[in-house]
Amino acid sequence: MILQAAPQLRIARFRGEIDAAISAVLGGDAYILGAPVEAFEAAFASYAGCAHAVGVSSGTEALALALRALGVGAGDEVILPALSFAGSAQAVLQCGASPRFVDVDPRSRCIDPAAAADAVTVRTAAIMPVHLFGYPAEMPALIALADRHGLAIVEDCAQAHGATLVGRRLGSFGHAAAFSFYPTKNLGCIGDGGAVTTNDARLAERLRSLRNYGFAGSERISREPGFNARLDTLQAAILSALLPFCDDGNRERRALAARYRVALADCLGLGLPPEAEGAVHHQFAVTHPDRDGLMRCLAEAGIGSAVHYEPGLHRHPAFAWGATEPLPVTDRLAATLLSLPIQPEVATLAVDRVAAALRRFCTTLR
Ligand SMILES: Cc1ncc(COP(=O)(O)O)c(C=O)c1O
Repeated sequence: MILQAAPQLRIARFRGEIDAAISAVLGGDAYILGAPVEAFEAAFASYAGCAHAVGVSSGTEALALALRALGVGAGDEVILPALSFAGSAQAVLQCGASPRFVDVDPRSRCIDPAAAADAVTVRTAAIMPVHLFGYPAEMPALIALADRHGLAIVEDCAQAHGATLVGRRLGSFGHAAAFSFYPTKNLGCIGDGGAVTTNDARLAERLRSLRNYGFAGSERISREPGFNARLDTLQAAILSALLPFCDDGNRERRALAARYRVALADCLGLGLPPEAEGAVHHQFAVTHPDRDGLMRCLAEAGIGSAVHYEPGLHRHPAFAWGATEPLPVTDRLAATLLSLPIQPEVATLAVDRVAAALRRFCTTLR
């Protein structure tokens, strides 16, 4: 069976580095925050092209804390694309604000800047572009929109570690950016983990306080309502060990995406991801009008695939009031997108077999 994703194979590939990182923590004296978290934060800030990185307990927490630290709260609206993982919208609820879902651009599958502009109201406090599948949202148009209305931008970079737009790292465009280190991510740990990056020193300080009970520095006095939302020390050590390989993994993903593109170029009815230089292909998601049939056919050939994301967030009961307009592009993509294996440890030996099965499906009269 070819799995759609298999973090255990990545762990096996880097088992030596991971074991050494765990041993170092076991032999040290910091189990909460401490030197391993500080070292990872410094390394990740430099990798992400930002002055600061603050390690937190998950990607969802990273988004929620970033919004809170920017002053977003009750009564505010946050504009975000309806095509994303539920965590993007849960983060908005967590900080007391309301999600306002807008449609995505059919090519980039990321937030449509014109739809975002139409959704701005007097309550709008922030825009949350999601760099879906590791492809960049249109940041210049979104920054112009945010500047026009005095809005904050929090980039959801959960799927975009190391991705660039015009040579600049995603995550360095907004006021803050949130990363997830969920095990399947391009940089993933062995459990939950996340980080917020920013170039604003005061925002970074506020984030360090919010993730640690509202404490300031080493003082154990709560200055404001805070959380226990720190990046786990063991995960930080593992992430430091894996970070040096992240760009290699992204290069391998680019090469795999290029192989898929060539092999699938003339498949009838099949839609391919956009060709975005700097994308890191967290997913290689194709579209097909009979997506469920294609998924079944791949499964019969022993090939795993996955649906990201159906339904759109505006159709989840928890946020069903979050859209005021129909979102036809999101609905169409939600019904037709299928993510193929792209994780290097899975796909390097499997691309040709997956592509052949897809080609068979697309040329069989049905
Ligand atoms: C786009 C997106 N946003 C947010 C999240 C939430 O991250 P986490 O699972 O670490 O809370 C994820 C991933 O899981 C994601 O893919």
